[in-house]
Amino acid sequence: MDDLALNLPERIPYHLAIIMDGNGRWAKQHGKPRHFGHQAGTENLRRILRACSEFGIKILTIYAFSTENWRRPPAEVSFLMRILETVIDRELDDLHANGVQLRHIGHLEGLQDHIQRKIRQAVERTRNNDRLILNVAFNYGGRDEIVEAVRRIIRDGVSVEQVDETLMEYYLSTAGQPHPDLVVRTSGEVRVSNFLVWQAAYAEYYITPVFWPDFDRVELHKALHAFAARERRFGMVEPPEV
Ligand code: IPE
Ligand code: IPE
Ligand code: MG
Repeated sequence: MDDLALNLPERIPYHLAIIMDGNGRWAKQHGKPRHFGHQAGTENLRRILRACSEFGIKILTIYAFSTENWRRPPAEVSFLMRILETVIDRELDDLHANGVQLRHIGHLEGLQDHIQRKIRQAVERTRNNDRLILNVAFNYGGRDEIVEAVRRIIRDGVSVEQVDETLMEYYLSTAGQPHPDLVVRTSGEVRVSNFLVWQAAYAEYYITPVFWPDFDRVELHKALHAFAARERRFGMVEPPEV
């Protein structure tokens, strides 16, 4: 155990969500094309996953491809699709061995058939792991998720009286999981960009100017300390007792 692991705050987020932003600007800063940044971002994800396990985080949700990212040039979109495939191919054995339960949130439809198959198989293979849940938001949009939930509620013939927040939760892609405690966004943008609009309604937000490929274990550690210093009041005058 090194200094960072020993110097952890007492209150760690149970569920951490990350908007992994700034790959393109990171590449530009290094005089490289954008895909270089996406590659570097992927390598960083491996490091951060390991750090999350080490720091005792139980759920990590990562924003990897939004429903709006289809608006990017086709070559970049294809590259991002290929990255997802490569990550599953290369990392799944390791993730599985490390007790990571992989889940997908967002629309599978819309992705190529073989990618859909690959995601389903990865989810199936890791479903009984319980060291860390990794929700991969890919082709995900928060508004889209809510619309989809409403559609399914109506399809199920649920009566008006039965519709409440608990029922809505049940129809979201994160059903059964506690809400994110902390949402980190790298690269300095102060916006939600359609990420977990329902689930993060009461999350703490931490924005850092650091680009995603440079957001390392030390930066994560800083974010955890910032989170521990926050007072979460949930509408009350004093924070609730835990
Ligand atoms: C995040 O980095 C990765 C995805 C959105 C897929 P960006 O590609 O958005 O990088 P910037 O924001 O252009 O620097
Ligand atoms: C949000 O980043 C989506 C992901 C990180 C996958 P973007 O870079 O797409 O967000 P905007 O367009 O700047 O809001
Ligand atoms: Mg961006």
